[in-house]
Amino acid sequence: MKLNLIQENIKTDIEIIIIKDKKITSNKKTLHQLNFTGEDETCALLLEAKKLYIGCENNDEDSIRVAVSVAIRKLNETNFLNISIDAKEDLRAIIEGLELGNYTFDKYKSKKKKTKEKTINIVVSKLNKETINIFQDAINISNSVNLTRNFVNTTPEDFYPNIMAKEAKKIAKENGLECKIYGEDYLASNGMHTMNAVGRASRHESKLIHLTYKPTKKAVKKIVLVGKGLTYDSGGLSLKPADFMVTMKSDKSGGSAVLGIMNTIAKLNLPIEVHGIVGAVENMIGGDAYKPDDVLYAKNGKTIEIRNTDAEGRLVLADCLCYAQDEIKDIDYIFDYATLTGASVVGVGHYTTSIMGNNNHLNYSMVQAALDSGELATSLPFNRYLRKTIKSKIADICNISSTRYGGAITAGMFLDEFISEENKNKWVHCDIAGPAYVEEQWGYNPYGASGAGVRFTIQFMKNLLKEK
Ligand code: BES
Ligand code: ZN
Ligand code: ZN
Repeated sequence: MKLNLIQENIKTDIEIIIIKDKKITSNKKTLHQLNFTGEDETCALLLEAKKLYIGCENNDEDSIRVAVSVAIRKLNETNFLNISIDAKEDLRAIIEGLELGNYTFDKYKSKKKKTKEKTINIVVSKLNKETINIFQDAINISNSVNLTRNFVNTTPEDFYPNIMAKEAKKIAKENGLECKIYGEDYLASNGMHTMNAVGRASRHESKLIHLTYKPTKKAVKKIVLVGKGLTYDSGGLSLKPADFMVTMKSDKSGGSAVLGIMNTIAKLNLPIEVHGIVGAVENMIGGDAYKPDDVLYAKNGKTIEIRNTDAEGRLVLADCLCYAQDEIKDIDYIFDYATLTGASVVGVGHYTTSIMGNNNHLNYSMVQAALDSGELATSLPFNRYLRKTIKSKIADICNISSTRYGGAITAGMFLDEFISEENKNKWVHCDIAGPAYVEEQWGYNPYGASGAGVRFTIQFMKNLLKEK
């Protein structure tokens, strides 16, 4: 798909018309005969008139994204090559709807669908710098979301920690980022025993990835992003039941989102220093596996009683959060991204990210950024009573809670144990277990990986710069 930004409407094979608030102003009779009323996620193709009408019940940006994705999917069933759409309003949403809705993952199909490339002419009122910037940013961000989706959708056989590290190197090279990759020797000699333990039974070496973007202009903020990159989560010795193990290739979604964000930052030329840290690990079983009953030492010296090897993400993140805070000084914000708990999915549903932390104001800013960007998020509150449930009788802390309720929050509070005092109010934990991977198409998101976290983080940065 090629997107062309133009100022004057030109003759094309098909024009996409978005119907807002069910207000149909042309071809009324034919559309009535087709029983098209402009309802959300419906469309009508009028061949004679060369128009594709799409319904858009609400007027907000995200409804436009959904509507446009319906249009591009419909057009992909046809052989029309030259298409136009009026984007005098909602340019960003239209581009993102096209790019995100057009995504397909056919890596494992032996017969790929062969289609000729379509050109979409995007008609804007003014071809000025501002318009071109919105256009380019939307394309860059969508491409990174799609890159993240590709990583997550790739099978654990083809995407293991070293591959994740290679992808990180590729991103670094393309964007002029600094890139450090560490293996298990580094983890062992730098006290990262909890992360190391999780990957021990895997035939793939665990990798710690650290990408850095430094702007050419002076950085106005320093942001650290930490991602859970479990390239597979079998549950370890506390093995997952068969049905729950399927889709666990998606347990690298947090780390993949961090890589996707790092892939965008340099292209957007934001005046922010950004660090992307990923713990890439495979959680497997075997004679060498870490065990329930073990007590592990985290990088900050805290001891962790293991009672369930399936609560492994928090162990990997604990050491990665410590690494980040030891290596990077004067952090303004530190965010982590993880498909951390099934409890988050139970609590808020498949489409929403759970946002947690000690600073309510910051949590709300992140939720707001999500809503501004078209992602869904909500804030879950920590509390003193749940905090007590992760205490251990024999170690400093236990890797699971003594209660089965509030699992997303207790996992968040576990991570809080690895945030140093000076960073307590700068930290936000994003549990993306719900939206990261859904086994059905939803809106402009495909079956499988959605790329959750990429858009809201970029939006957070943009909102931050607007504040200044
Ligand atoms: N990766 C899972 C969480 C998950 C579950 C993500 C479903 C996406 C969909 C995580 O490592 C895990 O297994 N968590 C356990 C924690 C429990 C043992 C305290 C869970 O949520 O059941
Ligand atoms: Zn697990
Ligand atoms: Zn996991």
